[in-house]
Amino acid sequence: MKEAMQRLREASIQAILASESPDALENLRVKFLGKKGELTAILRQMGKLSAEERPIMGQLANQLRSDIEAAIDKRRGELSEALLERKLEQEALDVTLPGEKPHLGHKHPMYNVLDQIKEIFIGMGFEIVDGPEVELADYNFTKLNIEEGHPSREWTDTFYFTEDSRVLLRTQTSPMQIHAMEAKELPIRMIAPGRVYRKDEVDATHSPMFHQIEGMVIDKGVTMADLKATLNLVVEKIYGEGTVTRFRPHHFPFTEPSCEMDIQCHKCGGKGCPTCKGEGWIEVLGAGMVHPKVLAGCGIDPDVYSGWAFGMGLERLAMGEYKITDLRLIFENDVRFLEQF
Ligand code: PHE
Repeated sequence: MKEAMQRLREASIQAILASESPDALENLRVKFLGKKGELTAILRQMGKLSAEERPIMGQLANQLRSDIEAAIDKRRGELSEALLERKLEQEALDVTLPGEKPHLGHKHPMYNVLDQIKEIFIGMGFEIVDGPEVELADYNFTKLNIEEGHPSREWTDTFYFTEDSRVLLRTQTSPMQIHAMEAKELPIRMIAPGRVYRKDEVDATHSPMFHQIEGMVIDKGVTMADLKATLNLVVEKIYGEGTVTRFRPHHFPFTEPSCEMDIQCHKCGGKGCPTCKGEGWIEVLGAGMVHPKVLAGCGIDPDVYSGWAFGMGLERLAMGEYKITDLRLIFENDVRFLEQF
């Protein structure tokens, strides 16, 4: 019996040390110490022992039970420690790793150009104003001295909302001149950037929606010289000092005199190249002195006040600045295009 207990001791301790999980340990406990376990089986033999041997064997059996229990507890402790160790290793956080950079977008290239222009005009004391894209024909045409029957009022060119041609999508930002003159105290220095709409087929240089920037100054004693000086300054800030401009006579119903401003091609210096289509000059805007009839129509006395105005296309400016050859790229919002800026 003593040998049987010794064998059980050796076998159980070995099995316990080799076990790899709490479940396996529990199985061993049942196997060795359970009601139907191996120690119980040995103790069943007690009846065959003599009265002197019985207490000695009983004591040995108790000792064996508590040794096996102690071994199981110890192993359980080791296993849970190892488990914790492994978990800590797996969940370790290396705070020195560089991390993932969020992919940030950026402003649309055309709005970069607009921001630059706004900055320049703010620096000269201009105010930036905003106005409706759905406009009355009165403001888009009539108050700008564009009479009934003028070709630019044609249904083929303009998006009208009503049969009577009263409400439309503005075809230019010039109605902002009227809104400013009607609403603001004099003197006025403002620019009004925004969307305009014309019935144009989409191609590399046309879109039914595009952007203009209107500019206007109304004060006492304002002359064409102020217009030229201001626009020259703006152009130099955008294209660099010494950029050459030229003002060609033109006609707009709401300015008198009227002109168009060209800049000498910054690519070829005026010799003629693909950028300027061989002209040496690039047309940038229409401008002029606000027509006395327009001033008077807004309640401003043309004998006391005078002013100038200009309107320029924003897309064309951005295309020139970023060497973009197709207008459609500006509106398609393809990230492969936009990410280049
Ligand atoms: N509105 C005119 C256009 O769309 C441009 C312009 C604005 C001309 C202001 C003179 C003064 O062509």
